[in-house]
Amino acid sequence: MAGAADAGGGGRLRGGLTVASAAPVLLLDHTDSTNADARRRAEAGETGPLWIVARRQTAGRGRRGRAWESDTGNLFATLLTTTPKPPAEAAQVTFIAALAVADLLDTYAPSSLVTIKWPNDVMLAGDKAAGVLVESGARAEGGLWLAVGIGVNLVHAPDGTERPATALVHHLRGDVTAAPTVESAAARLAEAFDVWLTRWETLGFEPILDAWRARTPGLDRPAVARLGRETVAGVAEGVAPDGALKLRLADGSLRLISAGDVFFGEAA
Ligand code: BTN
Repeated sequence: MAGAADAGGGGRLRGGLTVASAAPVLLLDHTDSTNADARRRAEAGETGPLWIVARRQTAGRGRRGRAWESDTGNLFATLLTTTPKPPAEAAQVTFIAALAVADLLDTYAPSSLVTIKWPNDVMLAGDKAAGVLVESGARAEGGLWLAVGIGVNLVHAPDGTERPATALVHHLRGDVTAAPTVESAAARLAEAFDVWLTRWETLGFEPILDAWRARTPGLDRPAVARLGRETVAGVAEGVAPDGALKLRLADGSLRLISAGDVFFGEAA
């Protein structure tokens, strides 16, 4: 499915850029979706770890069945990997992805502008600049494959989204002259991801969640959560030890939200 595949094994991207990451990076000219590509590889028995990066996706996908606009210039990357962790614990990788994206954006934009919105949208000056889509499946031999898909608006943001979106190029620090190339952004992302992954594997989820909390404002504000067909409103009361959002509803009950679209600072 991928066109003009260009393998970069041993942690190198085309162009000789060295990636300080444990996982090699494969840079494709185009594919349907780097997540779909990762899934096909996993189902064919590949274990990873492997970063699959494409300059363009013809069928990029977002959360909740939405499309992800995928024109050349932005970053479309998926880490294919395998884990022995049970599914609920493996899902914590989404927090690692958000932290790694925040580190990538920090490299080029003022850190004060970079925040995370529960659980894994990464924002620049309050508007969405990046999203994460994690997919997984069971392996016949045991364990889970994970496809950690990350889209970062480096140079353009989609029009017509429900909430405003933005791109890194609009928020560069004074000493940065241009948005990074796809190669540089992929290298920085892979490197940052590796640091957080190693921390997770050696120290567990608590330090990850602490770092994530420090980047995530609004966890004590009114919030509205859209969960499939149901919409619930309440006041956020932080996150549970597993990262679920704690939402206090009007009737006084506490609802734990593990997935869905949540909008902070809004009443129902
Ligand atoms: C979201 O809806 O916020 C998640 C968007 C995830 C987009 C990325 S781009 C790379 C990877 N391949 C895909 O098809 N989707 C993810």
